[in-house]
Order: sequence, then structure tokens, then C-alpha cells
Amino acid sequence: LQLRSPWPYPAVVAHRGGGAMAPENTLAGFRAGIAHGYRAAECDVKLSADNVCFLLHDDAVDRTSNGQGLAAELSMASLAQLDAGAWKGAAFAGEALPTFANVAAYCQAQGMLLNVEIKPCPGREEETGRLVAQEAARLWAGAAIPPLLSSFSDVALRAAQHAVPALPRAWLVEEVPANWQAMLQEMDCIALHCDHCTLTREQATAIKAAGYQLLCYTVNELARAREIIGWGVDSVCTDRLDLLPAAR
Ligand code: G3P
Ligand code: MG
Repeated sequence: LQLRSPWPYPAVVAHRGGGAMAPENTLAGFRAGIAHGYRAAECDVKLSADNVCFLLHDDAVDRTSNGQGLAAELSMASLAQLDAGAWKGAAFAGEALPTFANVAAYCQAQGMLLNVEIKPCPGREEETGRLVAQEAARLWAGAAIPPLLSSFSDVALRAAQHAVPALPRAWLVEEVPANWQAMLQEMDCIALHCDHCTLTREQATAIKAAGYQLLCYTVNELARAREIIGWGVDSVCTDRLDLLPAAR
């Protein structure tokens, strides 16, 4: 594992693998991102009932697969049986719900940077932060650029910090809180990731002046991307890979 270093933020990051181009948090999504020239993607990682790190946004599998139930109550063996693609269209039928290890191998082989959002099932914040960080350190051992870990959960992010301090971290917020700088310092983060709808130009200026990287999600209009990049925002996370060019 390389020492902690600033993550080289590309101007655009594909949201949930391939944004709106493919089923979210699947390898088909990452393939779509690469096909559109993207060099970085975000994905959501949580724990199965038997503590395997895998990709899923929601607490339950219902919306994005042909299964039913809470992820926290399903083993990886049963999650692996699900079709996570057909809901997005017949062309994606049979797409698997990937493990974090599947995605780590694919992204590294393709030279794709990964922003790993730690998305704990309710009540599993500490163990999810710890196990995702440990798995990331194992999967990226020897890699030139580590993944960037982020989370809305400060409990999960602190657990990741404690488990593997060397991995770069970003705190995710819906709105920039008054204590943002103290929180970033405490959790030794390199970046703040914020909803673009709530960010002000003044906040962007202050965050950049303090030396942090700044990413905004989920920006699906080119004009808005240009506006906030003009405020100093380093990177935007998008569903519209077709609208936002991969090169700035
Ligand atoms: O990491 C940015 C973004 O993914 C956060 O929102 O709900 O899409 O995970 P969500
Ligand atoms: Mg996410």
C-alpha cells in the first residue's frame, strides 16, 4: 500500500459506475464509463450478512435487482444469484451484483480510479468502515494510486481512518456544515464531497483556500458543471456521461 497521497481528481467522475448509461454499481456501468473516456468512477460499497464487501446503493436489493430483502440479511452467495441488470433493460439481463474485489480488479486493469463511497446498512457503520478500508488496502496493495474512501457516516469514516490511516478520505455532506473544517481535520480528510444544489460560491472559495479538494455530486447539466468548476470545484460526479465530456 502506498503512503497517503492526494487523489488526482479528474474533472468528471462517473456516478455509481456508469451513471445513467447502465445499471448502477455493476461492471456494465464501469464498462460504460470507460467507453465514454472516463478515468474515474464512484461506487457504493456495503457489507453482506457474512461480511463480504459488495456494491449496492440502497439498504435493500429490491429496486436494483430481481431479489427482495435487506442486504444486511443476505449472504454473498445469495446476493451473487441476483440479476442486477434486467431492471435497467433487457440488454443488461444477467448482470451480476459485483463484489468490491471484482470491481477493484476490473478498475485497476483498466486504469480507472475509484471513489469508494462507504454506504453502511443502518447500525453497521463502524464495521463497514473498518472492513471496507481493510479490504481496499488489501485489494490495492502495491498500486500507484489508492482508492479514495468517502462516506456520509462520520462513524464509518473514522473507523476507516483508524483501520487504515494511509488511505485517502473524503467526507460526504448534503450541505456544508458550520464545523466542516474541524471535521475534515479530525478525520484527516483530503476532500469534502458536497451536493452541488446546496454549495455556495463563498463556501467553495473557503474550502479551496483551506487546501482541500472539493467534489460536487450529482451534476447532470454541462452549464452547471462549468459554473461550479469556475468557483474552484475540482471535480463533478455525474450520471450524464453522454453530456459531460471526459476531458475538461
Ligand atoms: O458519492 C456521491 C454520491 O454518490 C452520494 O449520493 O446517494 O448517490 O450515494 P448517493
Ligand atoms: Mg454514492
